[in-house]
Amino acid sequence: MTKTYHIETFGCQMNDLDSEKIAGDLIRYGMQPAAAVSEADFVILNTCSVREKAVQKVYARLGEIRKQKGHRPDLVVGVVGCMAQLEGEKILKKMPFVNIVAGPQKSFGISALFERSIISQKPVIAMRADEDPVPLEDFHIARGNTWSAGVTISEGCNRQCAFCVIPLTRGKERIRESIHIVREVESLAAAGYLEIILLGQTVNSYVDRTGGLSFAGLLRRISGIPGLKRIRFISPHPSDFSDELLQVMESRPQVCNHIHLPVQSGSSRVLKAMRRGYTRERYLEIVKKIQSSARPIAISTDIIVGFPGETDADFRDTLTLLDEVQYDSVFSFKYSPRPNTAALSLTDDVSEEEKGRRLKILQDHQKHIQYRKNSSYMGRIEEVLVEDNARSRFRLTGRTGSNKIVNFDGPDGLIGKMAYVKITDYGPHSLQGILIQYPVLNSSAPE
Ligand code: SAH
Ligand code: F3S
Repeated sequence: MTKTYHIETFGCQMNDLDSEKIAGDLIRYGMQPAAAVSEADFVILNTCSVREKAVQKVYARLGEIRKQKGHRPDLVVGVVGCMAQLEGEKILKKMPFVNIVAGPQKSFGISALFERSIISQKPVIAMRADEDPVPLEDFHIARGNTWSAGVTISEGCNRQCAFCVIPLTRGKERIRESIHIVREVESLAAAGYLEIILLGQTVNSYVDRTGGLSFAGLLRRISGIPGLKRIRFISPHPSDFSDELLQVMESRPQVCNHIHLPVQSGSSRVLKAMRRGYTRERYLEIVKKIQSSARPIAISTDIIVGFPGETDADFRDTLTLLDEVQYDSVFSFKYSPRPNTAALSLTDDVSEEEKGRRLKILQDHQKHIQYRKNSSYMGRIEEVLVEDNARSRFRLTGRTGSNKIVNFDGPDGLIGKMAYVKITDYGPHSLQGILIQYPVLNSSAPE
């Protein structure tokens, strides 16, 4: 009988794509997807380790899976991704029923690990060694939908931000050759995909070693591929931001008018301790350039509160930065000490309670900014890429090019297509609207 797998993904968009690569490998091996652990022969947790909470979440989920394994001893359990790379054998000590532990670069050969674990009847551990880089080409990818696709352009990170464990879990940066990237995007466009999301830890440090192509050059090349409506990229690093990138964003309508530019802190003192490689002033210069562009470009960011040594005055600098930039959205986190990072040598001197207090102040502050910003969308007609809506009273949702979420009602057949929506209401985190124009459904006529 055909064996089945079930993948649960934690963490970032790169993990979502990795799960599609894992699924691709398992399908090629002859397996089929199962909707739940209870229906699967093989369950895979694709994990995150960026904060301690993410690690604990995986252990809690493993605790639940242990119960299933109790009455189904043949269930094969795999833990893969960043947390697997970081924790290694510790996972087997805490959860001895786990069959496979594999780091992010080893998870793509998951079918071979599955076979090894069945034959040997022993736990299999597969970890990356720095000297053993896997080429970033030619994965078989089982895509999660038919309209938006992530495309790897690089993986790993050569920076050493003091708080960040990713260089340890994903290793040194490896660049994918542009010829492979372009070929993949061309075939996605030919298959009808409307949106491409270029992925890398510091996506704009990309330089093709063979062709000398920069990230901006790659973006320009990809924006020339017919059929694509939207090109996004995450995440650029402020230090690698170039005028050429801004020029491409200004001149190519397919490149979305949104940039996620992680700042982490508004205090130059804290930025230095974080080893981010830029000051508040330098970051603001980049923001000013983006904001003075003729094309309105939305900006979002990541912020950490309570980094070791962050004073009240430093935190206030972060709040004033929010005022100066007027971000469209902010992802904010309490600092979480990570193993083998430079910040571990600093005292984690902001109490948990104070971190929580700062996080709340920051989020309330930003909420007002977003509320005001979103009010400017009232009455506008926005083009959105439509998705299924499970979480709101509206049937459908979608994003504008500027990455605003728009909730509205309409037929299911619109999912995965472009539609026009008139904005009739707004909140700090999303917009609401009514559908005013959409393509003829069940037709192959051009939209
Ligand atoms: N450059 C990477 C960053 C990924 S981590 C990328 O975008 O692909 C995403 C965010 O998690 C970071 O920008 C940072 O704000 C946050 N983060 C990373 N390490 C953290 C830690 N130790 N504690 C709290 N937040 C952290
Ligand atoms: Fe992490 Fe900094 Fe790289 S946040 S992924 S070390 S740019």
